[in-house]
Amino acid sequence: MTTEARAVLFHRTGDPDVLTIERVRLDDPGPGEVRIRVDALGLNRAEALFRAGRYYYQPTLPASRLGYEAAGVVESVGAGVTEFAPGDPVLTGPQIEMSAQGVYGDRIVLPVESVIPRPASVDAVTGAATWLTYATAYGGLVETGGLRPGEHVVITAASSGVGTAAIQVAARTGAVPIAVTRSGDKRRRLRDVGAAHVIVASEVDVPEEVRRLTGGRGAELIFDPVAGPELPALAEAASVAGTIVLYGWLGGQPMLMPLNWPLTIHGYANGHLSATVSGRRRINRYIEAGLRDGGLRPVVGKVFTGLERIVDAHRLMESNTHVGKIVVTVEH
Ligand SMILES: NC(=O)c1ccc[n+]([C@@H]2O[C@H](COP(=O)([O-])OP(=O)(O)OC[C@H]3O[C@@H](n4cnc5c(N)ncnc54)[C@H](OP(=O)(O)O)[C@@H]3O)[C@@H](O)[C@H]2O)c1
Repeated sequence: MTTEARAVLFHRTGDPDVLTIERVRLDDPGPGEVRIRVDALGLNRAEALFRAGRYYYQPTLPASRLGYEAAGVVESVGAGVTEFAPGDPVLTGPQIEMSAQGVYGDRIVLPVESVIPRPASVDAVTGAATWLTYATAYGGLVETGGLRPGEHVVITAASSGVGTAAIQVAARTGAVPIAVTRSGDKRRRLRDVGAAHVIVASEVDVPEEVRRLTGGRGAELIFDPVAGPELPALAEAASVAGTIVLYGWLGGQPMLMPLNWPLTIHGYANGHLSATVSGRRRINRYIEAGLRDGGLRPVVGKVFTGLERIVDAHRLMESNTHVGKIVVTVEH
């Protein structure tokens, strides 16, 4: 049976106001698929870049969907689905191609690989701020970066959704999170999230300050989504034979290669870790344990009420004034 749903679409790339809310066809879930009533959306910078045509893959036009992260409840399941049943609280995130499967809408159908069980204690707003942020922080810091207790880790763009998650993942590992922001207004909030130290990049020299905080040694790990031409300067904050894990490209300019060798540079992509059942299981176990023991406390910076606030929510994201995740609730 086919019904209708509301979805956020865009017909050309550009500023937030290219986003429109439209009625779209909603099919019953096919084999291996799940239909979800969406209650909240978590915004990710990748979505703003995709909408603007500046992400690592391009939208399929004339009509593209948008969005990775939603929290909701299963309405129905297709043939062969044993992992979920109607009424189950769920999250979305892994293995989504945004143009065809983007989750900004009130009802969506996704393959089972893109759906994650949501613990009953986690409400929709908190849930929308949970999976992708902690999956990226866990995968990047723990699995790829090999972060160990006692090590220092420099987290740039620390006020971002992923950055705030990374502060908590680092602290939960027993490492020392050093948060970097461009804005002095965010200092207090980053301390509250769990940063051991906060460096305001517009006020001091970041590598010099990291050396001061680490007794001259530098940080064993740098977790960075900015990259670009400033990377060699940032790399000066690394310890001898330290590691940089790059997971984004907010800088948008061609990247220069640091020369303070030996230095290991990794690129981290969630899509790679979450592509396998075992990768998804490791991520989910880590997040569930962290939520249970209180080491992971999702940081929601701002909640907008109603899908029609999506343009305002994207504008806030691009203002860079938020700390943590921007969430949009969906009314039915
Ligand atoms: N590799 C992966 O698997 C993966 C997964 C998820 C997200 N990501 C990437 O992670 C990054 C962060 O996403 P998010 O949704 O967490 O971000 P977000 O919540 O939108 O926050 C971004 C923050 O980064 C800082 N920033 C923005 N532009 C910057 C620039 N040009 N230079 C330095 N800092 C800048 C700003 O904070 P200040 O002004 O305070 O510094 C801003 O508030 C994005 O690049 C996204 O694509 C990657």
